This record gives sequence, structure tokens and C-alpha cells, in this order.
Amino acid sequence: MHAAGRAAADTLTHVGRQLAPGMTTADVDRLVTEHTRSLGGVPAQFGYHGFPASVCTSVNHVVCHGIPSARHVLSDGDIINVDVTTQLNGYHGDTSQTFIIGDASEAARRVVDVARRCRAAGIAAVRHGARLGDIGAAIEALARAEGCSVVRDYGGHGIGRAMHQDPHVSHVGVPGKGLRLKAGMAITIEPMINLGSPDVEQLDDGWTVVTADGSLSAQFEHTLIVTPTGAEITTLA
Ligand code: MF3
Ligand code: CO
Ligand code: CO
Repeated sequence: MHAAGRAAADTLTHVGRQLAPGMTTADVDRLVTEHTRSLGGVPAQFGYHGFPASVCTSVNHVVCHGIPSARHVLSDGDIINVDVTTQLNGYHGDTSQTFIIGDASEAARRVVDVARRCRAAGIAAVRHGARLGDIGAAIEALARAEGCSVVRDYGGHGIGRAMHQDPHVSHVGVPGKGLRLKAGMAITIEPMINLGSPDVEQLDDGWTVVTADGSLSAQFEHTLIVTPTGAEITTLA
């Protein structure tokens, strides 16, 4: 899990350094494919339930599962979530960041900052004996305090030999409720934070999820292992 997590994080860092206006999201896909393979890994999202690319690229009002395209050119002021899942030696690392292209609006920078801090707040709630509801409640409280909303229709997940395993890790919840975490469990925390309403819609391509009101959305994801006193993040570069 540590080797796979490190590989996914290194690929995300590699791509993040090269993002610039004028690049297409298909360029991002090519970078992810090449870099993942150079580390001896496999891009786990490719072909997953028919997903047609190695990486999800979700720009501006796209919440998640954006499909890379040679027609989608990145512009100054865009925000783009790049979500990398690497399989290495049979285990998975899953991590994403939302990057700012050039100079973005204050609103864009704010939703990105809140999403990053929501991931941190969720991770801070993790330890042996804590409940899944503690994670969601921590994320929801911070998002609300910042005037943002939390997407309810998609969540984190268990991860290991498969990319997606039980349990479902909601980013909203009630403290003290839900499954009890145990040391050694591996999960992702990947809150999707919207500037407007939490409602989302899926496009006719069967993948792309967008905010229903067209507002900006940002997301950050780590894979982690529950420990007796906290969490060990596997997806650090
Ligand atoms: N990496 C995504 C996640 O965080 C999974 C996307 S599945 C895909 O769970 F098929 F869209 F790639
Ligand atoms: Co992911
Ligand atoms: Co995930």
C-alpha cells in the first residue's frame, strides 16, 4: 500500500508541475499514463467500468469523473482536479489535488483552499475507535463555516487489492455514528466541495459529474491507513 500510494503521489506531483494554459486534458492523460508506467505501475482507472482514460480531469464546475479530451484546452483562471489511481504490485494508491491554472478568481482560490482544508479535517478525525460519522461531520462543519457545501452523492471508499472496496466513506455525517474504524483499515478521504448548492448531475457521457447550479467545485484526496492514534497517509510524494 505504501509503494502504490507513493507512486500515485509522485505521478500527481509530476503532472501538477507541468500544468499550464494551452495544455489539453488529453495531455494530462498522456503524462499520467507514461509516468505511472515509468514507475512500474498501472493506471487503475483505465477501463474501470469502461472509463476511457487513465485519469479523471475535472475542470471548474465539474465535480468529478471528468474525461480527458484533446478538445479541452486549459485556460488561465481554470481550476482542475487531477485524480490519479495507481495499481502497483497488486495494491492501490488513490490521490487527487485541485490545481489552479495561472491567475484564478478569489472565489476559485477560496473553494480550492476550503476543499484542501476539508480533506485535512477529515483525516484529523481518523484513529482506531473513531466512527465514519466523525469524518463526515468534521468535513461538513468546516465547509459550512466557510459558506461552502459538501457533495453527498459521492464519497471516499475502502481501498486495497481493489480500487474501490467497502466501506463507503461519506463526507457528511453525525459524530459518533457509523462504522467503527479499526487500525489497519485502508480508506480514502476525498471531499468534493461546492461554492453553491451541493446538488450534482451526471452528463449524458455516463461519467462527468457537474454541479447542478454551475458553481465551482474542488476536491482533494488521500489514501490512508488507520492507526491506533491517527492515520498514516500513503499518498505523500
Ligand atoms: N479515482 C476515483 C476515486 O477517487 C475513481 C474514479 S473511477 C473512474 O474514487 F472510473 F472514473 F476512473
Ligand atoms: Co481518486
Ligand atoms: Co478514491
